[in-house]
Amino acid sequence: MAAPIAPRHVLLAYSGGLDTSVAISWIAERYGASVTTLTVDVGQQGELEGALARAKRNGAREARFVDAKAAFAQEFVWPAVTANALYQGAYPLSTALARPLIARTLVEVARQVGADAVAHGCTGKGNDQVRFDVAIQTLAPELAIIAPVREWNMNREDEIRYAKDHSLEIRVTPKTPYSIDENLWGRSIEGGILEDPDRPAPEEVFDWTGRSDSWPASPEEVVVTFERGVPVALDGRRMDPVPLVREMNQRAGANGVGRIDHVEDRVVGIKSRETYECPGAVALIEAHRALESLVLPRDLLSFKSLIDRRFGEVVYEGMWFSPLREALQAFLERTQEVVSGDVTLRLFQGNAKATRRRSPYSLLAPELATYAASSTFRQDAAVGFIHLYGLANERAYGRGKESRERTSPSKGRTKRAARAILPASP
Ligand code: ARG
Repeated sequence: MAAPIAPRHVLLAYSGGLDTSVAISWIAERYGASVTTLTVDVGQQGELEGALARAKRNGAREARFVDAKAAFAQEFVWPAVTANALYQGAYPLSTALARPLIARTLVEVARQVGADAVAHGCTGKGNDQVRFDVAIQTLAPELAIIAPVREWNMNREDEIRYAKDHSLEIRVTPKTPYSIDENLWGRSIEGGILEDPDRPAPEEVFDWTGRSDSWPASPEEVVVTFERGVPVALDGRRMDPVPLVREMNQRAGANGVGRIDHVEDRVVGIKSRETYECPGAVALIEAHRALESLVLPRDLLSFKSLIDRRFGEVVYEGMWFSPLREALQAFLERTQEVVSGDVTLRLFQGNAKATRRRSPYSLLAPELATYAASSTFRQDAAVGFIHLYGLANERAYGRGKESRERTSPSKGRTKRAARAILPASP
């Protein structure tokens, strides 16, 4: 199945970091191929122009750049919001959601520049290689895939030495042992002492959420307006998706919202301790959930939670370009037709909590729910309802137990007396 690897022209997904900088020259040397780099902007901070110039100086024949922020928000992040997507109940899938988009862009640009192979800087232990490889294989089975870091067996020191030996220009960052991946939807931090799940994440790994002793002493409120399941305004100001998520990251982040510290099950069968900062994602998902609880009926909410979970797993597992993801998303879209309205969030000391919600599609009927005398709810009807509702259990429960507990004679005797008095049958 693997294409014979004798590529002439390789398109390398290039972040500007150490791995992918070294990869430019390593691929050229190992395969005798020319290397074009592609940097995809999915909202990562950091100096992108500098990175492009360095790619050329480090031997790339061309350094391409694609701004994919808007596509990322619209096509990947917004569907994840409709799914309240949190892998294993915790991780908003920030890295996972960007991979299929980067892979798709790689394929498009590979075709434009006539590359016969694509390359990425993923290791052989993570999910990202799976996501890239599966996506590329699905969209362009004719392209060979090279993953230098998976092949070359160099550690960080080796890479720095290699760069020196080949007079590569690298930006030697203040020695951080962490592997960081960043985009509009969040920041993933791995490695170093974080690998030990029994040690707390040190403050220094956090960036978007400041320092915990700098979080404001009083809460901040923000009103999120949704239309058909996606956020369209903050505090009444209509905004495009990218600036909206950015602003949410900033405001929620300043209050410490979105720090995630959990043990995660990777696709490749290992558990690992993962640390994230996803302030905007955590806040917007909280708001979205609060609105859904107001406008969706109970049975749909219950069933949708299964779809939500599966959607998150499909994304995590690298199956974006699959019929299953498309079908789940179609279901989600249908559910979102009434998910419009305003939710007020209170951001405070690491938490984002919904404190108000309203919608023209609200299913909450005050005249039914109120405890005031004006209620139109027929409390007398509850008695008959409960009688039938509990009927099956009344007959079925404890049958196996009965024989076991026959020795204790008082059990099961009080049942009849516990039932509310029904009006006489006609
Ligand atoms: N565990 C996360 C995921 O699988 C984050 C991966 C982060 N990648 C990185 N290069 N640090 O989506």
